[in-house]
Amino acid sequence: MSLFDCHFTATLSERETAGTRRTLRPVVRQGGMIVRDGRRMLDVSSNDYLGLADHPLLRERAADWALRFGTGARASRLVSGTLDLHRQVETKMAAFKGCEDAILFASGWQANASVMPALCALSVARTGVPMLVFSDRLNHASLHHGCAAAGIRQIRFRHNDLSHLESLLNREAEKPGLRMIVTESVFSMDGDRADVPALRALADGAGAFLYIDEAHATGVLGPKGRGLSCGMADLTMGTCSKALGGMGAYVAGSKALCDYLANHASGFIYSTALPPAVLGAIDAALDVTPGLDAERARLLGQAERLRVMLHGAGLATADSTTQIVPVLIGESERAMTVAARLEDAGFLTVAIRPPTVPAGTARLRLALHAGLDDAAIDRLGQAVIALTRDVA
Ligand SMILES: Cc1ncc(COP(=O)(O)O)c(C=O)c1O
Repeated sequence: MSLFDCHFTATLSERETAGTRRTLRPVVRQGGMIVRDGRRMLDVSSNDYLGLADHPLLRERAADWALRFGTGARASRLVSGTLDLHRQVETKMAAFKGCEDAILFASGWQANASVMPALCALSVARTGVPMLVFSDRLNHASLHHGCAAAGIRQIRFRHNDLSHLESLLNREAEKPGLRMIVTESVFSMDGDRADVPALRALADGAGAFLYIDEAHATGVLGPKGRGLSCGMADLTMGTCSKALGGMGAYVAGSKALCDYLANHASGFIYSTALPPAVLGAIDAALDVTPGLDAERARLLGQAERLRVMLHGAGLATADSTTQIVPVLIGESERAMTVAARLEDAGFLTVAIRPPTVPAGTARLRLALHAGLDDAAIDRLGQAVIALTRDVA
């Protein structure tokens, strides 16, 4: 028993009543399928878009590096945690992203949550006033958290609405301080893309630093899976936990940027360095990913096949053009019921509800992976269509 247990349970039961309580439900993976609560399903809920989490080379190198170098890095990078392996993987990541340098973090969340305050501190240090941060309204929670941790008030533009962004940049043009535009290149809940060249042009016009989160584009989009921002962003951040099949994250950009972050990003400074097994998986993923053009083409083709089916039945998939296909349902309860019925039908999807998405836009998030064939996509599409009709 802890002193606060009565408060914890009261708060959780309020969530229960509101239908927003979450629980942890263990899964087991079996030959491309996922088993939960004794039910065997096709997994269209997770972000292993290229199936690399099961790739033999990633498994082998992770195991090999753990055997050779141990299970932990033992200290923060700035103490005695930096191994040759860290620099080797950072150099390989920088080459993959076409940047001068890269710096690794323990996770994407940790990167965004600590890089943002580090950058905001730069404005205060150099100009004496806070950074002006222009952010897409649908940016990931970790980016919002980073801004909150920096104590700045974001200037939010409507999702992917670059005219709105331009008008906000113009409105603030005379204000002192450094400025930064922050967005994702592929939005995690909508599966749509930002127009990175247009963002670069706006950033240039306003003298703003361009920060792009490539969590869902890395490995999947752009030439050889390098993402959508190569050569255009001042800072690219991405995760190794989604299409790269492992764990951890990177920030890629100039040498000066990476050096600055090693000195100022608290999530880098005060956290133990990534362990050898994780580095081995990232290293192998960087060897494998550029050669997966056929898998990328199949994945995007299957997503298009699914969207055509869903649209034919009158279902909306927002502005998705990627491997993430949202099926807009509207009310949270209905989305939950459709997701539960899909589980009965053998598909694990995830119902995304407010506050993760705006009110009235609860949805099923279908995250496809390159291993799905035409028959699987057709069965999935038919089940979604039938069940959204059934569940009024
Ligand atoms: C856009 C975006 N950025 C950052 C993250 C965090 O990455 P990680 O899961 O590696 O912590 C996520 C994870 O869902 C994400 O969708």
